[in-house]
Amino acid sequence: MERLLALLADGRFHSGQETADSLGISRTAVWKQIQKLKELGLEVEVVRGRGYRLKRPLCLLDAGEIRKRQRKEVPHLEVLTVIDSTNRDLLDRADRLPKGSAALAEYQSAGRGRFGRRWVSPFGSNLYLSLLWRFWGIERTAGLSLAVGVAAVQALERLGIEDLGIKWPNDLVFEGRKLGGILIEARGEAHGTATVVIGIGINVSMPERAAEVIDQPWIDLKRATGRDFDRNLLAASVLDGLLEALEQFEGHGFPAFRDAYRRRCTVLGKPVWVIQGERRHRARALDVDEMGELVVEVEGGEVRKLSGGEVSLRII
Ligand code: BTN
Repeated sequence: MERLLALLADGRFHSGQETADSLGISRTAVWKQIQKLKELGLEVEVVRGRGYRLKRPLCLLDAGEIRKRQRKEVPHLEVLTVIDSTNRDLLDRADRLPKGSAALAEYQSAGRGRFGRRWVSPFGSNLYLSLLWRFWGIERTAGLSLAVGVAAVQALERLGIEDLGIKWPNDLVFEGRKLGGILIEARGEAHGTATVVIGIGINVSMPERAAEVIDQPWIDLKRATGRDFDRNLLAASVLDGLLEALEQFEGHGFPAFRDAYRRRCTVLGKPVWVIQGERRHRARALDVDEMGELVVEVEGGEVRKLSGGEVSLRII
């Protein structure tokens, strides 16, 4: 499938015979592979006498291209064509992989979002990236997901993307619409090494059809900026930013990111709905503390602290 994709990526017609010859398989086998691409949501035009063509040309992810564009190095970098979830994949293989290993995918069949939600992950359109890290003690990871939010936004800013914000705790937003999300999954004991997988999803050029199932206001980089982005460059920039941030976080924790976070946080000073399962109540977001918790004033004037793992917010 990888070789067929590489051939069709240019968006031009390739005859059944040419495709079969260059892959060294039969024309029937080519046809079967084309059906698989269609099942993944890729639009393939089939014209008698001309062959197969992808309706949208693809610039595929490529580990070599990503490494070339990186300033820093990761010990292990993998591009997966199809996977259920890059987070699940790294978590399951964590024992055999070094700290700093990264996995990216073209397509996730069961992309994971926060609170058990699904992360819509159509083929070849966006960025789905996970990075494995280890911390000495899970208690040292307080505020990590917020620091990762700052790192991701700064990486995009370095590519000239402006006006990005972070909706507490870690939604990347543009004009109130969700552009990306972060899901950190951990495995670890209180006083041992904590294995953490940091997953980042960024919408780059979301196909209309795939977006039909997204249940909140969303946007992608193409719509936000009017520009096309090279996903290999984006991946390199986000990985570099993440590695730098993790080094800093290991030394100083969330306090080192707090000011940068507050400057970009879109909820501070605003009235919000605090949502916890079925329950919701009104509050005003006041600040983000040194642990990354949101300080809010609830009706009646009481001040409370909220943890990102427990509640979500909606700006009123
Ligand atoms: C959110 O709900 O806001 C978090 C979304 C995180 C999505 C990313 S995509 C790469 C990684 N693999 C997953 O299955 N999820 C994360």
